[in-house]
Amino acid sequence: KKVTYITQKEEAKTATASSGNLMELAIANNIEGIEGDCGGVCSCATCHIHLTPEDFETVGGPGEIEEEMLELEDNVSPYSRLACQVPISSLPDQITVKVAN
Ligand code: FES
Repeated sequence: KKVTYITQKEEAKTATASSGNLMELAIANNIEGIEGDCGGVCSCATCHIHLTPEDFETVGGPGEIEEEMLELEDNVSPYSRLACQVPISSLPDQITVKVAN
C-alpha cells in the first residue's frame, strides 16, 4: 500500500508498507509531526492524523479508547484518527493522510 503523508509544513512524503500501522510507517520514514510517544498503545495522541471523508469511510472510525484520547486533542476533525490504531491492512491501495497540527 502507498501512503502519502502531508506534514504540517504541507510537505508530501510517500511511503509504502504491507504490514504494521500508520504510526510505525511514519516513524520509519521520519514523518515530521508524528511522534508515537507511547509506542502505539493509544495513550499519547502524538500520532494524530486526518483522513479524507472518503478514506475515513473505507478505513472506519476510531475505537472507544481512541475516541476518548481524541477528545483531549486540539484540532480534531470528524475524520481524525490516531495513526497507531490504523492498520496498514485496513487501507485502500493508495491513501493520503494529513498530519494534525
Ligand atoms: Fe501514542 Fe498513537 S502512538 S496514541
